[in-house]
Amino acid sequence: MMSEKLQKAREWEQKQIEKIPMEQRPVFHFSVPAGWMNDPNGFSSYKGEYHLFFQYYPYEIHWNSMHWGHSTTRDFITWEYLPAALAPDEAYDNFGVFSGGAVEADGKQYLMYTGVEEKKAIDGTSQIRQRQCVAVGDGRDYEKLACNPVITADALPEGSSREDFRDPKVWKEDGVFYSVIGSRHPDGSGQIALFSSENMRDWRFCTILDRCENRYGKMWECPDFFPLENGGEKRQILMTSPQDMQAEGLEFHNGNGTIFVIGDYDKAHYDFQRRSVQAVDYGLDFYAPQTLETEDGRRIMIAWLKSWDNDVCPEGLAWSGMMTVPRELTWRDGRVCQNPVRELENYRRDEVRHSAVVTEEETEFSQIAGRVADLELEIRDTKPEAGRSYEKLRIKAAWDGRFYSLIEYDRREKTITFDRTYSGRCRDIISSRKMKVEETDGRLKLRILLDRYSCELFVNDGMQAMTALIDTHQEADRISFAADGEAQVEIRKYTLF
Ligand code: FRU
Repeated sequence: MMSEKLQKAREWEQKQIEKIPMEQRPVFHFSVPAGWMNDPNGFSSYKGEYHLFFQYYPYEIHWNSMHWGHSTTRDFITWEYLPAALAPDEAYDNFGVFSGGAVEADGKQYLMYTGVEEKKAIDGTSQIRQRQCVAVGDGRDYEKLACNPVITADALPEGSSREDFRDPKVWKEDGVFYSVIGSRHPDGSGQIALFSSENMRDWRFCTILDRCENRYGKMWECPDFFPLENGGEKRQILMTSPQDMQAEGLEFHNGNGTIFVIGDYDKAHYDFQRRSVQAVDYGLDFYAPQTLETEDGRRIMIAWLKSWDNDVCPEGLAWSGMMTVPRELTWRDGRVCQNPVRELENYRRDEVRHSAVVTEEETEFSQIAGRVADLELEIRDTKPEAGRSYEKLRIKAAWDGRFYSLIEYDRREKTITFDRTYSGRCRDIISSRKMKVEETDGRLKLRILLDRYSCELFVNDGMQAMTALIDTHQEADRISFAADGEAQVEIRKYTLF
């Protein structure tokens, strides 16, 4: 029997979907059917399709009592909305159905999520409890298990938080289910617990895979745990989204961040040994990434294209929340690299090429414009033998002669800055971020994905990525180039869809 809460959400979202015109949605990014969306949840395959669930409040464009919204795709680019999957309709999840994962087993789809319960204590104060719960279904309708919650904080090492214990990511390996879950160590900072199960109901604590020790933020949210391999070199990646990070150089910024903890894993002993830590994305709006593995063995990541602290929500829209373009992760030259899923290339059309010397004069090139575009650039010196012929290259996107978002490459500093200060938004929010990049053989490669409300930048075939929302009116569709000397730029541009 479907609860009233879920039924109400389904009826409401159906009406809203029809009301929101397609022109008010991104063209090739997934956007929430109605209301508010944050983290991707349950990103996984089931019966030949990829499923994406998400943190969802369909009634308003602000975070509130969490549901799970639902959609599917076959190619990561075009999505179908499905009816909301879960509502906070049980005593143990009355405060919200928080983030989690999904997995296929015995022909059914299992959703594992954090049920958050709010209870009044005897002294009248409210008490929050986070516990892991499971719902099972057919890819459309789900039933919460009678034995919920299936994991409580009692299963964690002594002194772990009972309030912060959330975001189970689940997968199946050699016939066993595993789940990584964020929690807090007695020192107040994050730790990632690994659990295993034979049947998705009875769970056993295996170990704490790694912990924060107050070094990378505090609470570690939304963990994921997967291998990447390249030419026999294997790494295990513990990906997580720490709260309360403190800035460090250009690698980490303040507030909610995302990190790859890169290490080695001895599965027989559940022993994860950390080697290094790398930021996932260097932009302004990127959080809570989650991955799945495709049938052809690719590791695909998707993330919420927004940040908790900077509330950039394009004004005047009846929805708030979109996802990044799904990205293929690879291990290359000592880094986790990310590139847009190759399926995006099927949507390219109207190729335009230019080979140009960019100079101090701000220049536009014929047919290099648009708010929905896939741009590939290769930038090099015009006279490498004669020393540097340029120090800076500036690209203005979403430009109307006044407003723009800037991508600036500084060769001396070896940095790229994204800056939306002049994008036309009249709110005093953080607008700029900078990251380190390297040339290879005197060349820098950029891929820029522009959609109506966003810009995603990939450097040197995904060595770095930088993601941001932009909120400039849609008529601002010019793209300009300028250098402080002479730069040779090869431009390839496609329209998408
Ligand atoms: C991360 C997060 C998760 C939580 C969810 C609630 O953005 O805080 O830890 O499950 O959002 O919506």
